[in-house]
Amino acid sequence: MKIRELSKKENAPLDLLLLADPSEEMVLTYLHRGSCFLAEIDDEIMGEYVLLETGPQTAEIVNIAVAAEQQGKGIGKKLVTHAISKAKELGYHHLEIGTGNSSIHQLLLYQKCGFRINRIEHNYFINHYKEEIIENGIRCSDKIVLAMELKELL
Ligand code: COA
Repeated sequence: MKIRELSKKENAPLDLLLLADPSEEMVLTYLHRGSCFLAEIDDEIMGEYVLLETGPQTAEIVNIAVAAEQQGKGIGKKLVTHAISKAKELGYHHLEIGTGNSSIHQLLLYQKCGFRINRIEHNYFINHYKEEIIENGIRCSDKIVLAMELKELL
């Protein structure tokens, strides 16, 4: 598997981006401003993440997804690890990733990769998404923001 940056001439894998974020409007907004990286096996796109600058020396992984049939094989972990290295290489000191209160597997994955829970943005998904999101039998209402200090890893 190789991970590479999407070039400006290529189309982004919208189906994968929408797996992680049901709002096409939001996806197109941050895709335009951020950098998208692709995980490929034999030239087939299996996963992606988008890194976006969100503040001084701060970046956020605003979207990450692995194709449904390829999930649970370690690709997501490799993408998160790649994003951490990329953010360090680009000189960011602080890296964030957000997920829903109902996204149990994602919370496990991000903490296994070294992120710590930083803050909760209450009602984020209620206020920013038109459709109600239900996951693992509960409503996705609050955004849990996890963070990592990259300076400490230098
Ligand atoms: N059940 C339990 N734990 C799971 C899991 C599952 N079905 N899927 C992932 N995990 C957890 C495990 O803790 C695993 O760690 P381990 O290997 O030490 O057991 C860890 O996540 C890494 O798993 P990995 O195989 O690398 O994840 P993945 O390739 O499936 O990618 C996502 C993870 C979240 C990117 C992927 O499932 C996905 O695309 N989901 C849909 C889109 C999405 O929700 N994106 C994130 C929005 S915040």
